[in-house]
Amino acid sequence: MHIIAHRGASAYAPENTFAAFDKARELGADFIELDVQLTKDGKLAVIHDDKVDRTTDGAGFVRQFTMSELEKLDAGSWFGPEFQGEQIPALEDVLQKYHKKMGLLIEIKSSKTQPGIEQAIGKLISRFGVSMNTIVQSFDAGAMMTLHKLYPSIPSAVLIKPRFGMVPRSRLRHIASFAGYVSVKHTMLSSFLIESIHSYDLKAFAWTVNGPKTGRRLESWKIDGLITDYPDYFKKEGKP
Ligand code: G3P
Ligand code: CA
Repeated sequence: MHIIAHRGASAYAPENTFAAFDKARELGADFIELDVQLTKDGKLAVIHDDKVDRTTDGAGFVRQFTMSELEKLDAGSWFGPEFQGEQIPALEDVLQKYHKKMGLLIEIKSSKTQPGIEQAIGKLISRFGVSMNTIVQSFDAGAMMTLHKLYPSIPSAVLIKPRFGMVPRSRLRHIASFAGYVSVKHTMLSSFLIESIHSYDLKAFAWTVNGPKTGRRLESWKIDGLITDYPDYFKKEGKP
């Protein structure tokens, strides 16, 4: 079971910054989950919202800034004064620093308002080397189909919030035709749903799991990955 640090170890450091990613590694996470948005100059910025307002000292839409303008913003102080000066990372720099050290689960947030983002991510990942340790995910299954058409060997996941914990078999079959993973809101998961996902040769991730008891229950149901703000809660025996 993979331990996947949600926006980095975001309980301990400002989300989607190198401080949170370094903390995730220190706490024994296997993967870092992060969110990307396309910038004005076609670069990929690591930030959750389509606006910079909540997590930086700036204001406005990410797509109105160039990457170097975004890097001038303070993405740490909102979380705590000790993080002042943390920057919005470029995905390129994150890949450079981590792709050989940890898995990366890269989420496309705004595919509809950022045409070309699938291609930009595929191209960048290909430059660093496609592997099972770099997975792309989105709530937008269409974006994952586009990525699969362009870069069929890049592993991908579809995020879902199933109504009443039910996912039609036809939907799982469809997802399995272009993706390898389903990321499910943990409150909607059951052992039956995980079995059903596995029966289509898909792996199942759960988000966002912050309770050790819930994590243990999901592990007993054979979940393949836990996305969590607290990777230390699920630290494996023998890991530093
Ligand atoms: O990886 C799942 C989770 O990150 C989806 O929600 O809003 O935190 O990106 P959000
Ligand atoms: Ca995310």
